[in-house]
Amino acid sequence: MADLSFAPRMHLQCKVDLPADKSILHRALIINAMAEGEAVITANNYGNDNGSTISALQSLGVPIAIEKHTICIQGVGRQGFKQAESTIDCGNSGTTMRLLSGVLAAQNFTSKLIGDASLQQRPMQRIVTPLQAMGAKIDTANGCAPLIIQGAHLKPLHYDLPVASAQVKSALLLAGLASAQTVSLIEPQVTRDHTERLLQAMKIPLTVNQQTITLEPYSEAIKALDVNVPGDFSAAAFFITAACLAQRADVSIPKVSINPARTGLLRYLVLMGVPVKMSNQQWYGHEPVADIHIKTVKRLNAVQVRPEHIPSLIDELPLLFLLAAKAQGTTIIPNIGELQYKECDRLKAMMSYLRAMGVAVTLDDDKIAITGVDALRGGEFDCLQDHRMAMTLAVASFATTETVHVKQGDCYKVSFPNFLQAIS
Ligand code: S3P
Repeated sequence: MADLSFAPRMHLQCKVDLPADKSILHRALIINAMAEGEAVITANNYGNDNGSTISALQSLGVPIAIEKHTICIQGVGRQGFKQAESTIDCGNSGTTMRLLSGVLAAQNFTSKLIGDASLQQRPMQRIVTPLQAMGAKIDTANGCAPLIIQGAHLKPLHYDLPVASAQVKSALLLAGLASAQTVSLIEPQVTRDHTERLLQAMKIPLTVNQQTITLEPYSEAIKALDVNVPGDFSAAAFFITAACLAQRADVSIPKVSINPARTGLLRYLVLMGVPVKMSNQQWYGHEPVADIHIKTVKRLNAVQVRPEHIPSLIDELPLLFLLAAKAQGTTIIPNIGELQYKECDRLKAMMSYLRAMGVAVTLDDDKIAITGVDALRGGEFDCLQDHRMAMTLAVASFATTETVHVKQGDCYKVSFPNFLQAIS
């Protein structure tokens, strides 16, 4: 992987061509694979993580044809998957591994799921415990991948999720869908609901009552659904943050997903004093979309984040840390423990980057305090092959006085293949 360097930047003026929303695309692919009939999915510039889901499904016998931004997928039915000829490599993608595990737990064959070095260190017990409660047979390496999933006849599940995780929630809903069983879940906090929206759009009996989600047993054929995937808010967030840090900015980002379970960062930007403009609000299927515009921000104010909002900005927390590092005052962010379990330990990584950049950061229990400074120092940083760390470091160059060197920075392609072009 190549290293990248970003000289200090003062201005940002651009229109961003976003990649398709990664979370929505994973789900559109997996759920349509379980359907009967053909679905056409329109998805712009998606990255390697979605590619991992596509090749995993192909290895399970799902016909998929790709032409530019159009993916044609021929559903095989909930029980129509074929045993893969070899291990299924989920690459760097936790969503691929966790969601597919739910589907594969209900098939009548054995699968082995592996991932790259980062994915094989991430916690899988959080899906294995409830899937085993449904009767799934799964072996792990101390709670991590490789996962060996021996398909089984699954039972209904009623489960209080101990962690707020959309991946765990979705894995269990897909296990219920694959086995035509009831799955009833209570989330500790609201998390992204793309699976629920897609299932409802496909007329599958699923109800959501605040933090309780219930999938009724559904044994009819699942009908394929065409999906037009909007731009990824989590990708847009890098440009929104860069615009807030730049001394002069004019950034417009068309057709961004503005699902409220994803846009917690916007809520806090407004509180920090950023005028976020949204226009052209519309629906892409069951997902809300808008164009976002950000112009020069004079001053950022510190904020206090509420614990229940963390899942809605979980992937944007590193960017909020960066904004806090330039804000007036001390920003407090509670419940940040989950950050340790992402593609790298993002909590440890961000604390070390910010400290090296000259920012005062303290961690007390599960709460971080970041006191803003006028300018950040540059230097050489290891992004630990984590795409979001690489892009966060690139964005930091809008606030640093020296160049930011990012070791192995080109891992940004995991989620945002056009990132470098767009930021240059
Ligand atoms: C995702 C859910 C989140 C998020 C990840 C994508 C999803 O993970 O961090 O990038 O698509 O469901 P958790 O469910 O582990 O919080």
